[in-house]
Amino acid sequence: MATEEENAGNLKRKLAKLFQLSLEATVPGEPDVEPLIAACTGRFGDYQCNNAMGLWSKIKGRPGIEFRGPPAVGQAIMRNLPQSEMVESCSVAGPGFVNVVLSRNWMAQNIQKMLVDGIETWAPKLSIKRAVVDFSSPNIAKEMHVGHLRSTIIGDTLARMLEFSNVEVLRRNHVGDWGTQFGMLIEFLFEKFPNFEDFNEAAIGDLQAFYKASKQRFDADSEFKARAQKAVVRLQSGEQAYRQAWAQICEISRREFDQVYQRLGVHLEEKGESFYNPYIPGVIEVLTNLGLVEESRDARVIFIEGINIPLIVVKSDGGYNYASTDMAALWYRLNEEKAEWIIYVTDVGQQQHFDMVFKAAKRAGWLPANDSQYPKASHVGFGLVLGEDGKRFRTRSTEVVRLADLLDEAKTRSKAALVERGKAAEWTEEELEQTAEAIGYGAVKYADLKNNRLTNYTFDFDQMLNDKGNTAVYLLYAHARICSIIRKSGKDIGELKKTGTIVLDHADERALGLHLLQFAEVVEEACTNLLPNVLCEYLYNLSENFTRFYSNCQE
Ligand code: ARG
Repeated sequence: MATEEENAGNLKRKLAKLFQLSLEATVPGEPDVEPLIAACTGRFGDYQCNNAMGLWSKIKGRPGIEFRGPPAVGQAIMRNLPQSEMVESCSVAGPGFVNVVLSRNWMAQNIQKMLVDGIETWAPKLSIKRAVVDFSSPNIAKEMHVGHLRSTIIGDTLARMLEFSNVEVLRRNHVGDWGTQFGMLIEFLFEKFPNFEDFNEAAIGDLQAFYKASKQRFDADSEFKARAQKAVVRLQSGEQAYRQAWAQICEISRREFDQVYQRLGVHLEEKGESFYNPYIPGVIEVLTNLGLVEESRDARVIFIEGINIPLIVVKSDGGYNYASTDMAALWYRLNEEKAEWIIYVTDVGQQQHFDMVFKAAKRAGWLPANDSQYPKASHVGFGLVLGEDGKRFRTRSTEVVRLADLLDEAKTRSKAALVERGKAAEWTEEELEQTAEAIGYGAVKYADLKNNRLTNYTFDFDQMLNDKGNTAVYLLYAHARICSIIRKSGKDIGELKKTGTIVLDHADERALGLHLLQFAEVVEEACTNLLPNVLCEYLYNLSENFTRFYSNCQE
């Protein structure tokens, strides 16, 4: 991602700047060679520059080139590296890798700086000001399922990462509140409660059960079905009783969703499908005037190069659909909300839909053809949640899993583990509850985030609540230990930050220090590629580095 100004802490970028100068001096005939800098995995250095081989294959045989192979190119890159207080020593390995060992002093000073200035000064500087993250987005009156849970967790994390990077994030809950299911629900509601005043949350009871019963009625009775279909039209044309019933159903669903959000500490702003409905005709007109919309089998569609089905924007019955809404929402987000990056978090099953929407927007000139330019739209897809049997995660009754039950169980289990450790005697009931929630919900979140989001993952309470291995519990313990060291020191940390001196003598101290300094580049990578797992891996390694430091560097 293009960054406006240099990020205070990005080591990789600092080194890239140095090597850029060296590369220019090494092969003056090859300007603009991009430095390839990577953190080292071996023990020969902290970072390496990997340009020698690629450069060699470009320049070999050219007149005036004196190098006899990539190692010689590597040597020259090393020799031409400008002096820097950052670098302690360099060496060339194998076919020309230039290894860099960072200076301990420089490292220590920079950690001190990080500590004094605050971690927020190490946030990546992204070149955008405002983004939309469209996430969670369950459907009214239907079950909020594990797919929505994934979207909620991943979307919230991406939003937090961007917010940390000083981007204003519009957290959008694009709830499905305008689908054809409402005709059936409202008609069923009218049938059960002929008196409008009689229906309310308590009367409807469980909305899912209500949905099921109305669906049964819909499937079994063609007369009801016909009425339900008319009801959609009456709702959408704004008939008052229908609008009121619709609003009531939405409100009940909303309250259920909010409970999940509250427990997860997730904040979202609802702008559901219905919000964009008034914008659809105008947006379709714009697209039509651009010559993008064509007639096809009575529907109005946009053809997309390379995809054999078109994007239907007006159905053959004249109604609008999911795609019409998404075109209007994209238009609104770009033009009214002035978002520069619009991020959609759904399962990978919707990838083609978004691919088509984005390509249509490019045809319309709303988005630049080049994906590395802004404004940009990105689909953040994710895989399935699997049960321990390797199949789609379901309860025994093959029903979808209720998220509230899932969170309850995570909490109950983590509480039991705390009680087993004797915490019930040490803590107040409130502390126990709070800790059980932090661990239980944290475990569910982390288990989701730590894998590359595109892969399916297995939902396994035992694994996610294990206090060893790559789990939230392990991370939280490491964090708690750090807090307790600070507490026990009895020292004024604010004072210590300013006056203390950091030394990185021991190998484990140095390793921890290096890892801390890599924070900036990792966050930037996680933000640029929208990959929370990159950040999880960093935190896990940080905990490990800390644990090693803690056990080996006690005075
Ligand atoms: N409601 C949809 C679903 O449950 C997700 C909506 C995603 N966002 C969007 N703008 N289409 O699958």
